[in-house]
Amino acid sequence: MRTRIALLLLAALVCLDLVVSACGATTTTSILGDRSEGADPSALPADVQASYRVFVQRCSKCHALARVYESGITDDDYWVRYVARMRRQPGSGISKGDESVILHYLFYYSAQKRDAGSSTTASNP
Ligand code: HEC
Repeated sequence: MRTRIALLLLAALVCLDLVVSACGATTTTSILGDRSEGADPSALPADVQASYRVFVQRCSKCHALARVYESGITDDDYWVRYVARMRRQPGSGISKGDESVILHYLFYYSAQKRDAGSSTTASNP
């Protein structure tokens, strides 16, 4: 009985470890290299879906997600700055570790937007 519980705990710890290291490995190239079509959340690649869930949870706390989608930001540098700025808002609930996870989704989203925009409205004021 006791060993079963110990094993369960161990499994839980290993899972946690995997999640943490997966976040640490987030790189821009892996996202931009993956250009699957469609910005529909259910059509997101598995790794982006996990980031998307953190994004929804963290970034819908103070304002609607529409605020993010309607900002017209498709520049990765801007997202880095915005997420850092939002993290610094009092009581944001966003940790330093969340930043790279959320950016993983936002970079993916931006890449999709840029792809879609280049064929229709390319000019930003
Ligand atoms: C603690 C509350 C809070 C959280 C959490 C938060 N925001 Fe905000 N956000 C604000 C406030 C307040 C403003 C308006 C003031 C400003 O622009 O700094 C804002 C504005 C914005 C804007 C600007 C919209 C525009 O029209 O220029 C964007 C984009 C944005 N947030 C994205 C995000 C993202 C992405 C996240 C998640 C990482 C997030 N926010 C989480 C409070 C928050």
